[in-house]
Amino acid sequence: MAQATISETHTRDLDRDCTTLSRHVLEQLQSFGPEAQDLSALMQRIGLAAKLIARRLSHAGLVDDALGFTGEINVQGEAVKRMDVYANQVFISVFRQSGLVCRLASEEMEKPYYIPENCPIGRYTLLYDPLDGSANVDVDLNVGSIFAVRRQEFYDESHEARDLLQPGDRQIAAGYVLYGASTLLVYSLGQGVHVFVLDPSLGEFVLAQSDVQIPESGQIYSVNEGNFWQWPEGYRQYIREMHRREGYSGRYSGALVADFHRILMQGGVFLYPETVKNPAGKLRLLYEAAPMAFLAEQAGGKASDGQQPILVRQPQALHDRCPLIIGSAADVDFVEACLAESVP
Ligand code: AHG
Ligand code: MN
Ligand code: MN
Repeated sequence: MAQATISETHTRDLDRDCTTLSRHVLEQLQSFGPEAQDLSALMQRIGLAAKLIARRLSHAGLVDDALGFTGEINVQGEAVKRMDVYANQVFISVFRQSGLVCRLASEEMEKPYYIPENCPIGRYTLLYDPLDGSANVDVDLNVGSIFAVRRQEFYDESHEARDLLQPGDRQIAAGYVLYGASTLLVYSLGQGVHVFVLDPSLGEFVLAQSDVQIPESGQIYSVNEGNFWQWPEGYRQYIREMHRREGYSGRYSGALVADFHRILMQGGVFLYPETVKNPAGKLRLLYEAAPMAFLAEQAGGKASDGQQPILVRQPQALHDRCPLIIGSAADVDFVEACLAESVP
C-alpha cells in the first residue's frame, strides 16, 4: 500500500514535469498533424529564446557590454539598450533554419526580417517585443518579452508586410515571458491561458497553472500617474475615483509584462492612456497591446483603446501605437464609462 502511494506521487510529479511547452501545444490542439507539430516546435523555440535571454539577464552585471545604451535610436525614436539588441537577435538566431517562421517583425526593426531559407515552407510570422520594460534592466528589475503568431499570408518582396495590418483577432497564438524572481512563460492558442515556470534544474518550462481566469474585478490600478495632467479628462476622473475608494492600491513597475501579469493573477486594471507627449498612446498595437488583449480575453477579461476592443482595432502601420486599458472586465468597463461621461 505504502509503495502504491509513493508511486502515485512519483507519477503525478513526473506527469507535471513532463508537461513541457511542446507537449502542451499538442495536447491543446488534440492533434499530431503538421499544423500542430509546427506550432509545438514554434512554442518550443520561443521557450529557447526565453531561456537564452533569461541566462544573459541572470549575470548581466558581470558581463562586459550587457547593460547600458548602444548610443543608437530605434525606429520608435527611443534610445536602444544593449539588452534590446541582444534579445532581438536571440529571436532571429532561434528561428533561423527552423523551417517554421518566414518573417519576424519586432519593435527593434523598422521592417520585418525575412528568413529566406524558411520562406517556402514557413507558415507563420512572429511579431515580438524582444525586451519589454528595458528601462528596468540596468536596475535589475522585471522585464519581459511579448510575442504574437500570425499566419504568413504571402511573400512580400517589398518587406512592407501589408498582410500584417489586420486586427488582433487574426492572431493564432500570443504570450509573454516574465523575467522575474522566476522566469514565467504565459501563452494562449485561443484555448485558455496557461502559465509555465522555467525549472532551472531541468532547463525546461513546466506547466504550473492551466486555464487561468482573471478575477471579474480587482483593487489594483496600474498607471504612470506622472502623466496625470497629460491625460484626457475621463482618465483623470477615473483615478480621482480610485483615490476616493478604500482598499485600492496603485502598482506600476514600468514594464507592461510585469504589470499585466499582476493584473492577470490578482485582478484590476492596467492603463496607458494617450498623453500630450504620445497623443496616439505609447504602447505598440501589433506586438504589445494586441497579444496582451488576446490573453486578457482568453482569461475572461477585457482590453480596450477607450473606444473599441483592442482586438478589432485596425492597424495602419507596423509600429502603430494605441491607448490601452486592460484587465478585469468590470474595471475596464468602469474606465470606459468614465471616458464616455467626460465626452463634452
Ligand atoms: P519597451 O521597453 O519595450 O519600449 O516598453 C516600455 C513600455 C511598457 O513596458 C511600459 O508599460 C511603458 O512603456 C512604460 O512607460 P513609461 O515609462 O512612460 O511609464
Ligand atoms: Mn514594450
Ligand atoms: Mn521593448
